[in-house]
Amino acid sequence: MYNINKVREDFPILSRQVYGRPLVYLDNAATTQKQLAVLDAMRQEYLNVNANVHRGVHYLSQQATDLHEAARERVRAFIGARKSEEIVFTRGTTEAINLVAHSFCLSQMKAGDEVVVSDMEHHSNIVPWQLQAQQRGIVVRHLPISDDGRLDVDGLEQHLTERTRIVSVAHVSNVLGTINPVAYIVAKCHDHGIPVLVDAAQSAPHMAIDVQQLGCDFLCMSGHKMYGPTGIGVLYGREEWLEKLPPYQGGGEMIDHVSWDKTTFESLPFKFEAGTPDYVATHGLATAIDYMCQLGLDNIEAHERQLTAYCMEQLRSIDGLTVYGPAENHDAVVSFNVGTIHHLDLGTLLDRLGIAVRTGHHCAQPLMTRLGILGTVRASFALYNTKEEIDALVAGLRRVVQMF
Ligand SMILES: Cc1ncc(COP(=O)(O)O)c(C=O)c1O
Repeated sequence: MYNINKVREDFPILSRQVYGRPLVYLDNAATTQKQLAVLDAMRQEYLNVNANVHRGVHYLSQQATDLHEAARERVRAFIGARKSEEIVFTRGTTEAINLVAHSFCLSQMKAGDEVVVSDMEHHSNIVPWQLQAQQRGIVVRHLPISDDGRLDVDGLEQHLTERTRIVSVAHVSNVLGTINPVAYIVAKCHDHGIPVLVDAAQSAPHMAIDVQQLGCDFLCMSGHKMYGPTGIGVLYGREEWLEKLPPYQGGGEMIDHVSWDKTTFESLPFKFEAGTPDYVATHGLATAIDYMCQLGLDNIEAHERQLTAYCMEQLRSIDGLTVYGPAENHDAVVSFNVGTIHHLDLGTLLDRLGIAVRTGHHCAQPLMTRLGILGTVRASFALYNTKEEIDALVAGLRRVVQMF
């Protein structure tokens, strides 16, 4: 296990105060804080290296390109992909899913063909497919979940039809903390020749991921949820699939040759990276990944699982409090409501005590409908959170609840 006090020193924002109270930051599923090493790496790059990548013959451009491509290689190793050609940089999970939805539907689906998502998806894994449904007449189906927020994976095959072309599911729910058995889902779908996209926005920060072990065809993640900068994310795609898909956007960097008659495209992964990439952010992301790997993904997972279990146990001692999601196998996100008190009121009052949580539908309105609620309060943990912060949350909640 790592030294939590030392880790917290790496994130200066954690020692600030809000409303004259120590900040308790429990909104990590929305975005994580950034450690000094990431900020330093990006500052140093802007100060000493900055130049546009790939097309320059000069020294700085080559140095910036080396850093950018080294970051790609770092991401490849982090998720166990076979080749760095399988790593496409995007702005985040949302753009990565939009890329696949657009290019996959355009080239692999006809009107009436089906995509299967689940009832616990973030809007990022619903709306891109709905846009394709509007434009191309594909059909979006959704797998049901149990009352405690688990996918009925044994019944999965009932929802696959002759028209199912792709299945797209969250690895970890950003509301329920459910960890979906994606390796099992992939195996079942592959039995029917159906590829699977995994939305790893909420798993990549918390557990070791190996795309070859998962067997998935696509996997998406966001740098800013992994202690990296905003505006950078990753699409992993199995080479065979990426080769088959047409480009998502057009512009510089992604072409081989352009003429008025015919334009040909660059090889992978550049075919999917139109325009100047955020080459400083990729370096920042690689630095964040290094940091997580130095601490050890297994250590991070063990630390956060302990916090989550402790939080759920403590919260249940509050009268009228409902925790959503499974009791077991629950990742670093805890959503709850207390009686009929509005989640926004709870969140606002907790904020005045210095406790940052998220309230609302968490970009998962179909899930809220399934649960029969309008929203929840959500506390979500990161590698730097402590048991004392959970105590502060629980004590704060007790105080706030008494006001109603
Ligand atoms: C499960 C899940 N998928 C996708 C996203 C979208 O991520 P981003 O906004 O970084 O693209 C989020 C963000 O909260 C998420 O939790």
